[in-house]
Amino acid sequence: MNLTLKIWRQADATSAGAMHTYPLEGVSEDMSFLEMLDLLNEKLVTHGEEPVAFDSDCREGICGMCSLMINGQAHGPEVTTTCQLHMRSFSDGDTITIEPWRADPFPVVKDLIVDRSAFDRIIQNGGYISANTGSAPEANSVPAPRDKAMRAFNVATCIGCGACVAACPNGSASLFLGAKITHLGELPQGQPERYSRVSTMVAQHDHEGFGGCTNIGECAAACPKEIPLDVISQLNKDLRTAIKQGH
Ligand code: SF4
Ligand code: FES
Repeated sequence: MNLTLKIWRQADATSAGAMHTYPLEGVSEDMSFLEMLDLLNEKLVTHGEEPVAFDSDCREGICGMCSLMINGQAHGPEVTTTCQLHMRSFSDGDTITIEPWRADPFPVVKDLIVDRSAFDRIIQNGGYISANTGSAPEANSVPAPRDKAMRAFNVATCIGCGACVAACPNGSASLFLGAKITHLGELPQGQPERYSRVSTMVAQHDHEGFGGCTNIGECAAACPKEIPLDVISQLNKDLRTAIKQGH
């Protein structure tokens, strides 16, 4: 198929950016979205032009590196990561607009790459869990009820991609934060630091400049791992308890 791509180009964090238009021919519907961009970059390099910078690593939907706003939707029209999106979701003759995540705490590094280290700092501020070091304990020595273990597992699938932030009109990272709080808060191993953890992580979230949640729900709609909106309720409940306990 033949496409017209409108892509955000920005030389570095301090330069002004702009949309650039590129026609691209010979795209197979079996290509992933990133393979389509690889094809564009091959053509740009062949013509002596600067390739488009974009993030990727695993290309299997597990690392969270790929992060593109495609036609105004985080990760594009399917509930999946950009690397798992395939060109069969588009049609011959389409114009596709490709932008980086737009959020103040995710500054553009170059073209489509943003700096998401704010997420790392939120995780770092969560600190540690009290667990003995040494060889792995026998799995059944710390029983966890099945429903709690399943919920912890489901929210642990958050890959930290940042689509929830990009989709949110407030630029809130509440879905990401709620996933991390719920993951450890459901398990016995996460209990000793449960409330101090929520307090320090929320403080870092706000310090980074992420906005507040106003229950719009775009985050959950955009999330490639289908993290449910109710993790934000869990986050607020745990924060209320943390405040009562003086954390
Ligand atoms: S909650 Fe979903 S959208 Fe947000 S960072 Fe995690 S996987 Fe990505
Ligand atoms: S490149 Fe790893 S999730 Fe897309």
